[in-house]
Amino acid sequence: TLSVVESAKRQAAYRAVDEHFPPHARFVGIGSGSTVVFVVERIVQLGRDTTDSITFIPTGYQSKELIINGGLKLGSIDRYTELDIAFDGADEVDPYLNCIKGGGACLFQEKLVAICAKKFVVVADYRKISPSLSTHYTPGIPIEVVPPAANYILSRLTTLGAVSPVIRMGGASKAGPCITDNGNFIIDAPFPDGFIPSPSSPLSHPHKPLSPVEELARALKGIVGVVEHGIFWNGDRKPIIAYFGMEDGRV
Ligand code: A5P
Repeated sequence: TLSVVESAKRQAAYRAVDEHFPPHARFVGIGSGSTVVFVVERIVQLGRDTTDSITFIPTGYQSKELIINGGLKLGSIDRYTELDIAFDGADEVDPYLNCIKGGGACLFQEKLVAICAKKFVVVADYRKISPSLSTHYTPGIPIEVVPPAANYILSRLTTLGAVSPVIRMGGASKAGPCITDNGNFIIDAPFPDGFIPSPSSPLSHPHKPLSPVEELARALKGIVGVVEHGIFWNGDRKPIIAYFGMEDGRV
């Protein structure tokens, strides 16, 4: 039997696949983390008649393993750049579906796969619902950086208002920084006051003031040495829909 959180993840993932898996899909992106495990589980349940004609594109090492272990056909984002749909988890989602991703350090490939997909669908449990980005997911915004630029970027982040940004460490089994699938470092940049949610759009009127999320996303991309950041917003790709499994079993 699954815990409340795990079964919330499963409910969200199953519902997302049931409602959005395209009947004649050819290329499907598979994100990273513990919730997409249930997305793959549900896709496998669709049966070989459906899945045999589909190529699945992973967002990192873990999702590659998920695809292979599910007996699905593995592709790669460096070959296939037009996906029908991509499913992924998130660390935090605001009322406009702006997301923070990258808790699993896979944000670069996750964003690449998301922007290549016609539809991007997020699946998560109730803990990810947030009134204001960076208030729930306390490590803050994950940012993938080229290693020699890390210290420079830390100081630039402080100027932008981050409170004690840090280079993410590899954990108990690794002396030193966490290394991404692309050989880079991750910086976690907390903005504990959050960002008042407002709709953001790259198509917005040129004189319309930028939303705070949009402003930060643009500023981060402007720093030399930043490969990508974990804010998923209209300027690159935010989900068309997010499924949240709730504590009471609803989605
Ligand atoms: C990986 O880099 C992240 O963006 C994950 O998608 C995110 O952390 C969600 O993970 P869980 O589904 O395990 O919460």
